[in-house]
Amino acid sequence: MFITFEGIDCCGKSTQVRLLAEQLEQSGREVLRLREPGNTRLSEHIREILLDKEFSEMNERTELLLFAASRAQLVGEVILPALDHDKVVICDRFYDSTVAYQGYGRQLPLEDITHINRIATQDLVPDMTFFIDITPELAFERCKDRLAADRDRMEESGVRFYERVINGYKSLAQQDGGRFYVIDGSKSPTDVHMTIWRLVMEKLPLLSSYVGGDGLVMNRSLEAMEVDTVGL
Ligand SMILES: Nc1ncnc2c1ncn2[C@@H]1O[C@H](COP(=O)(O)OP(=O)(O)OP(=O)(O)O)[C@@H](O)[C@H]1O
Ligand SMILES: [Mg+2]
Repeated sequence: MFITFEGIDCCGKSTQVRLLAEQLEQSGREVLRLREPGNTRLSEHIREILLDKEFSEMNERTELLLFAASRAQLVGEVILPALDHDKVVICDRFYDSTVAYQGYGRQLPLEDITHINRIATQDLVPDMTFFIDITPELAFERCKDRLAADRDRMEESGVRFYERVINGYKSLAQQDGGRFYVIDGSKSPTDVHMTIWRLVMEKLPLLSSYVGGDGLVMNRSLEAMEVDTVGL
C-alpha cells in the first residue's frame, strides 16, 4: 500500500507521517518512510542542489525537472520494489506537490507537469493521499522560529503563493476524490492522526495482501491506538 502526505510547509506532514508509521508498525506491518526529494544516493544529491541557495540562478523549469529526476530514481529504485514486497510505503510529498507548487503556485503549464510526473512515476498512483489543510497564517504561526532563521522559505513567496498552492490541492481533491482526502490540519496532532488512522483502517482490508488472516490484527491495533495516543 502506498500512502502520501501533502500540504503547505509546516502543515504537520512529518508529524503525521511519524504517527501513522508508528501505528502501522505497532500493528505488525512493515513500513517504509520516505520524504521527497531524496532517499536514494542520486536523489539526495539532487535534493542538495535544490536546497542550495548558491544556485539562485535556477529557473522554474530546471527546478521542475530536478524534482522529477529525483522522483524517477526514488520510484524505480525504492518505492516499486518495496510495494512488490508488500510493504506499506509512506511518502512525505509526492507528485501532487509538483502539481500544487510548480503548477498552481509557480503557474507552469499543468499539462506539461502531468506529463513529466507520469514519466517520473511510471504511472504509479498512491492508494491514499492525505492533504493536511491549514491556512498560510497558521503555518507561519507554527513555524515562526524556523522561518526567522530561513527567511526565503515562506516569506519571500508570500501568503498569496501559498493560497494558490492550497487551491491547487483542493482542485486535485475534487478531481481525484477516490484517493485524495482533505484533512483539517488545525486540530491537535492526535485528532488529525485519529482521523487519518480510521481512514487507513477502512482501506487496508480492501487490499488482500494486508488482511491478516481473520482481520483481528486490525481490530486489536485500533484499540491499542486509542490507549497509545492519549499522551501525545
Ligand atoms: N496538529 C498540530 N497542531 C499544532 N502544531 C502542530 C501540529 N502538527 C504539527 N505541529 C507543529 O508544527 C510544526 C511543523 O510540523 P511538521 O514539521 O510536522 O510539518 P511539515 O508539514 O512536515 O513541515 P515542513 O513542510 O517544513 O517539512 C512543528 O513544530 C510541529 O510540532
Ligand atoms: Mg516535514
